[in-house]
Amino acid sequence: MEITKICCIGAGYVGGPTMAVIAQKCPHLTITVVDLNQERIDAWNDENTDNIPIFEPGLSAVVAETRGKNLFFSNAVEKAIEEAQIIFISVNTPTKTYGKGKGMAADLKYIELCARQIAKVAKDNKIVVEKSTLPVRTAEAIKSILDNTGNGVQFQILSNPEFLAEGTAISDLLHPDRILIGGDQTAEGQKAIQALTDIYANWVPRDKILTTNVWSSELSKLTANAFLAQRISSINALTELCEKTGADINEVARAIGMDSRIGPKFLKASVGFGGSCFKKDILNLVYIAKSYGLNETAAYWEQVIIMNDHQKKRFADKIVKTLYNTVAGKKISFLGWAFKKNTNDTRESAAIYIADDLINEQAAVCVYDPKVNQKKILSDLDYLETRSSQENAANVQSFDNPFEACQGAHAVAVLTEWEEFAHYDWKKIYDAMQKPAFVFDGRNILNKKEMQKIGFVYHGIGS
Ligand code: NAD
Ligand code: UDX
Repeated sequence: MEITKICCIGAGYVGGPTMAVIAQKCPHLTITVVDLNQERIDAWNDENTDNIPIFEPGLSAVVAETRGKNLFFSNAVEKAIEEAQIIFISVNTPTKTYGKGKGMAADLKYIELCARQIAKVAKDNKIVVEKSTLPVRTAEAIKSILDNTGNGVQFQILSNPEFLAEGTAISDLLHPDRILIGGDQTAEGQKAIQALTDIYANWVPRDKILTTNVWSSELSKLTANAFLAQRISSINALTELCEKTGADINEVARAIGMDSRIGPKFLKASVGFGGSCFKKDILNLVYIAKSYGLNETAAYWEQVIIMNDHQKKRFADKIVKTLYNTVAGKKISFLGWAFKKNTNDTRESAAIYIADDLINEQAAVCVYDPKVNQKKILSDLDYLETRSSQENAANVQSFDNPFEACQGAHAVAVLTEWEEFAHYDWKKIYDAMQKPAFVFDGRNILNKKEMQKIGFVYHGIGS
């Protein structure tokens, strides 16, 4: 089968950037990214590419270069499916909020909808690629739906999980550590693997394109995220001990990271990891293990989440305790709301949980984040359903300017590691704050000695 047209279902943080890079590197292919969310498609098509719905360094330039040439964003889902030879499924797979597996299992309703739609529309053979992160053996369910509800055409299902991290998506896509493609071991399966390999080979060295069976590929994605998150929870699990003993977690991380068997990455102690992936994927892994009766395996991985929840909780508790056991009516200023720097994504951001705890203590939370607005902050808090929207709105306010956000504050909490935070005129911030002026650096990005010299009472993580 000659590949000329690709369709990607889901124009989100993965579908958008991934297809933009494929379009840039494969000018001979036409790529249509479809989504049910009209507002999102409209934003992708905004004349000014700075208004696309996802902020990622370098993304707007790639979209400007390819959009309207060989990259299209549309809500005409069926047409795009019908015309394409390869269909990527890149829809969201959140944690279930109802029924069996509630709070743990992956909700596959969007995946099933995609499969049914592909089956209904496809009039010739298609390669269907799982780009979303899925529980191991999901391809079996997709195959069953396609084969039982389709028009008698042949489907090959590949697993091609995405390893990009937000904030560095474009560079991760351009220079991936590896591309993983899982497929059937049959001749037809191998042909499909080859077709997808040929696309990536336009810019990725062939020795970085790894092929496996479908189940290994599906499980590897959950495993990679579990290992990455585990490293953060492991380092965070030592921060409290450092604070009690006089050891410094930054020094400990440096010392252990220089062991080539351990390595230096993902050892940055923090207020806790966030993002749309780690928590949901580990819970999914835990649920799968439990469903096979593997209780020790489940408990082992669940501890990564328990540690992360503890890290967030103890950060909020520390603020309250340090501020003489009460923050009622006090202004606490947050620098950062996004779950990490260089993204406008706030899903599962530690800031949401810290704000929620502090609002419970009747603090007045003021937020400055370079890429997140008041509407998003309120909807994140409302999503927790701790209190009414009105109460949230009365207790949290966002500012367009960091100095205004910090003016008159009893404490400043750094929740995201945006680079600009380290370069502020901290003396100016100090002068405008209540005294003693407290800083809680949830990312260890400020210079402790300099902050103390200005007069701040400085609390980092793990030192
Ligand atoms: P997202 O929520 O940003 O985007 C998903 C999009 O799919 C939404 O715009 C939604 O409207 C659309 N959609 C849902 N059902 C649809 C349907 N039936 N037809 C058309 N459109 C539909 O999600 P995301 O962050 O891009 O994640 C997508 C998948 O990729 C998830 O499985 C996630 O686990 C995985 N993943 C995410 C990241 C990341 O960093 N965000 C990294 C690797 C893998
Ligand atoms: C993650 C995986 O890294 C990526 O490979 C996968 O495809 C999707 O999930 P993402 O969630 O976008 O990517 O960002 P990541 O860089 O992994 O950061 C996740 C969270 O961990 C952030 O809140 C970040 O601040 C935190 N983190 C990361 C730490 O606290 N310490 C670290 O050392 C690294």
